[in-house]
Amino acid sequence: MSNKWLKDAVFYEIYPQSFYDTNADGIGDFNGIIEKLDYIKSLGCNALWINPCYDSPFRDAGYDVCDYKKVAPRYGTNNDLYRLFDEAHKKGIHVLLDLVPGHTSEEHEWFRKSQSADQPNEFSNRYIWTDGWFAGCNRLPYIAGEAERPATYIINFFKCQPALNYGFLKPEEPWQLPMDHPDAIATREALKDVMRFWLDHGCDGFRVDMASSLVKYDDEKKSGTSAIWRNVREMLDAEYPDAVMVSEWSDPPLALRAGYDMDFYLNHNGGGYASLLRDYDRIIGRNADSDNSYFHRDAKDRDINRFLREYLPWYQDTKDIGYISMLTCNHDTPRPRFTLTPEELKLAYAFIFTMPGVPFLYYGDEIGMRYLNLPTKEGGYFRTGSRSPMQWDNTRNLGFSQGCADTLYLPVDPADDAPTVAAQEADPHSLLNTVRAILRLRHAEPDLQADGAFEPLCNRKGDPFVYRRGSMILAVNPSGDTLSVQVPVAGMKPVFTLGEARVEGSVLHMAGQSFIALK
Ligand code: NOJ
Ligand code: CA
Repeated sequence: MSNKWLKDAVFYEIYPQSFYDTNADGIGDFNGIIEKLDYIKSLGCNALWINPCYDSPFRDAGYDVCDYKKVAPRYGTNNDLYRLFDEAHKKGIHVLLDLVPGHTSEEHEWFRKSQSADQPNEFSNRYIWTDGWFAGCNRLPYIAGEAERPATYIINFFKCQPALNYGFLKPEEPWQLPMDHPDAIATREALKDVMRFWLDHGCDGFRVDMASSLVKYDDEKKSGTSAIWRNVREMLDAEYPDAVMVSEWSDPPLALRAGYDMDFYLNHNGGGYASLLRDYDRIIGRNADSDNSYFHRDAKDRDINRFLREYLPWYQDTKDIGYISMLTCNHDTPRPRFTLTPEELKLAYAFIFTMPGVPFLYYGDEIGMRYLNLPTKEGGYFRTGSRSPMQWDNTRNLGFSQGCADTLYLPVDPADDAPTVAAQEADPHSLLNTVRAILRLRHAEPDLQADGAFEPLCNRKGDPFVYRRGSMILAVNPSGDTLSVQVPVAGMKPVFTLGEARVEGSVLHMAGQSFIALK
C-alpha cells in the first residue's frame, strides 16, 4: 500500500489549452495555471494532473508527442513548467504530467529515423514494422504506403500515432520481437529516461495514457505489459520513492498489481461507473433525454447495485495494495452536466468525494460547466464538447483570455446563464461552494480519505444508499421522494448535510435529493 502523500490527495485535472490564457493568444498556458494555483487550493485540491503539454503537431490534442522532453511553445517554455512545479510545491500542491508510453507522433525524431530508407539504424525497431511494404497483420491496425522503408507499421490509436515497440508476449511472425529482445528493452529504457527527466525537474509523477497497451498479443491478465510496469516501478522505488503513477487502465486488480498507485475507474464499456453519471447509450445527436443515471432525480429503476456489483469486488481485492480513482469527468468523457442539474451534481460529487481511493475533479465541473455542442478540434470529435475554456467571470471571453473571441482555442459557453467562478463565489449554496464544503469535510475526517474502510449498509432498490466509511456513516437520496430507512445510526450526529436529512433513533429520514454524513 502506498505510504505516500496520496492518503489525503484530491486531484484537479487541467486541460492546459483551456484553463487560463495570460498572453492573449487564445490558448491557456503554464503562467495561467500558476496564477490560478490559489483558486485550485481554495477548492480543496492539493494535486494536479496536466494533460500532455509536450511539443506536438496536435492531431490528438497533444497525445501525439513529437518531443517528450520539450514543452509545446504554445504553453510556454520548459522553464515556465519548472516554475509551475516550484510554485505548486510552495502551496503544497503536487503535479503529475501525462506520460504517453504507447505511441509517439509520426513526427517524432525516433519515428523519422525508424521509417527512413536508411536501414538498419538505432531506431529501426523502436516501432513495430512488418516485413512487407503492403502486407499488414490481421490482429493489429497498421498503416501502409506512408514510410520510406518497404514495410507497414502498427498504430496504437490514430493514424498519426505509431505504436512504440515493447515486444510481443508470444511472437508469431519473424518481425514480432519478443519482450526480451534488446530493442524492446531499449524502448522501455527510453521511457524511463523520459520519466527521470521530468522527475529530476520537479514533477511528482505521471498519469499514464493507455497504460495497458504496451506489449502486443498480451494475455488477458496483461502479464507482458504488467511486467514492464513492475520494472518501471522498481526504478521509481529505488530512485524516486515519492513519485506516483495513476493508470488509464480501468482494471484496478491488474493495474495496481502492475505497480500503479492508483487506477482510474472509467466508463469503458458502460460499466458500474457509467451507471452513476452517464447512463445513456451514446451521444450521437447529443441527446441527453434518455439518461437513466443513478444520480438523475427521475431515474427509472434506480439501482446502486449496478455500480456496486463491479466496484465492490475490485475494492475488496485491491484495498490493501492501491487506490481506485473516482472522477467527475475527464477530457474524453461528456461532462456530467450534460444530463445532470447542479442540484443532482451536488449529490453525485458528495458521493464521489466521500469514496475510498483518490478522487479527481475535472476543471470546470466544480461550477457545472456544460458539455457544448462543438465541431471537432485536434482529434477531439465528441470529446471536444468537454474541452471548452474555463469560465472565470463575466468579462471578455468569460475571463479565460483577453484575446479576440475568434482566436480562442475553442469558443466559450455562449449561454446567458453560463456558470462562472465569480458568480458562484458569491453564493454560499452554489455548486462551487458545495464542492469546497465537501472537500473540507474529506480533509477534516481521516475516515473519509483514501484508506478509510468502505462498506455498504443499505443498497436496497428504492431506499437511500447508506454506506460506512471507517466509523462514519453516510447516506444519499438522489430521488425526488422523501425516504426513511432503518440503519445503525442511533446516537450519531450529522457533521454535514445537503438538503434535509436527519436521524431519529435508528431511522434516517431523508428528503428528496439529500445527503448526510454522520459521526
Ligand atoms: C487516452 C487519452 O485520454 C485520449 O485523450 C487520447 O486520445 C488517447 N488515449 C490516445 O493517446
Ligand atoms: Ca496563452
